[in-house]
Amino acid sequence: MRITRLHIRDFRRLQDVEMAPYAGLNLLVGDNGAGKTSVLEAIHLMAYGRSFRGRVRDGLIRTGTSAVEVFVEWGDAGRDRRAGLRHGGDRWEGRLDGVSVAQLGDLCAALAVVSFEPGSHALVAGGGEPRRRFLDWGLFHVEQEFLPAWRRYARALRQRNALLKAHRSDAELDGWEQEMAVAGETMTRLRQDYVDTLQAALAAVVPRIAPSLGAAGLALVPGWKRSELSLRDALLLSRERDRISGHTTVGPHRADWRVDVAAAPQGEALSRGQAKLVALACLLAQAQDLARQHGQWPIVVLDDLASELDAAHRERVLALLIATGAQVFISGTDLQPWGRVIADQKASVFHVEHGVVTRCGQAVVQRPEEAVPPEML
Ligand SMILES: Nc1ncnc2c1ncn2[C@@H]1O[C@H](COP(=O)(O)OP(=O)(O)OP(=O)(O)O)[C@@H](O)[C@H]1O
Ligand SMILES: [Mg+2]
Repeated sequence: MRITRLHIRDFRRLQDVEMAPYAGLNLLVGDNGAGKTSVLEAIHLMAYGRSFRGRVRDGLIRTGTSAVEVFVEWGDAGRDRRAGLRHGGDRWEGRLDGVSVAQLGDLCAALAVVSFEPGSHALVAGGGEPRRRFLDWGLFHVEQEFLPAWRRYARALRQRNALLKAHRSDAELDGWEQEMAVAGETMTRLRQDYVDTLQAALAAVVPRIAPSLGAAGLALVPGWKRSELSLRDALLLSRERDRISGHTTVGPHRADWRVDVAAAPQGEALSRGQAKLVALACLLAQAQDLARQHGQWPIVVLDDLASELDAAHRERVLALLIATGAQVFISGTDLQPWGRVIADQKASVFHVEHGVVTRCGQAVVQRPEEAVPPEML
């Protein structure tokens, strides 16, 4: 996939930014607070319905305005596609290829983006929520059976939780537990298969970007004792406890996964930098699996990569990404770490200053009604 045009309005400090990205490596360079991460967040929003720094209502909308707007045009296997999203925090409207979409998930499924940012080490070191999201997002893209099962499970879970809170009868719980069991077993089988697939991709990525980590392994934690009992029985067994807590304490909504590397055996703590490398390897493994399934690399977004990785690891990551031909967006505060790729003309540089984006000193954001700072021209 290749973004050919990106138009962002009222997104943090970005008032009206339009850019035509390069098919390969795009470097967004500028001072702290200039708006670089915001550009990357806008791309991420189109693929996930939220930023990697939070939901739209958590501060994404430019102060004094009521909604962010993002328009993206991209090429996907020779087909031109376009999507627009106007998001006001609670309400949103989206169009895909000129047609209104009813579910945000349908819009987000169209553009595949894999993002690595300063908070990404949470994928390895944080709570289960980002890991579950990572798994399910990948599955939405590669496994058609997953989304219907996920929706069916989520609905039955909401119903069971409501019944538990209202202290309703066992007979009423039975039906929804049966529904959860059918959908939840399907979800879990698909998650297990996906983790196995990612494991193979990870085994190929780690030696290329961080050989010092050694062999890496992934394991699914299903959310109940799946090796000992069915989900139906697990729900039945936890009923009394769940009545007391007022919500469902077992099931695939509590699933997680674990990654182990030989460099930190038996649960030894990874350093912060190692955790970031492992997280990046997982994300690139996911991207590689998407590429294998669709014949095309997703868009790769790397926020502030130079401050996240040392020079040797950065070089390895760049070499891998350049070899794949993926379209990549990297932000950073200066050009120095990217000297070689710029000299080799393998990257396009965009300067970001005070929320204005210009390509190599030549203005690409220039709307008649806007004053472009003189130093940009
Ligand atoms: N809702 C908002 N409305 C207007 N401006 C905002 C809003 N939210 C954040 N900002 C401003 O946007 C800027 C943040 O932009 P961003 O995080 O994209 O910068 P950056 O170039 O990535 O900086 P850094 O190099 O520090 O990572 C800050 O100057 C902040 O004050
Ligand atoms: Mg930033």
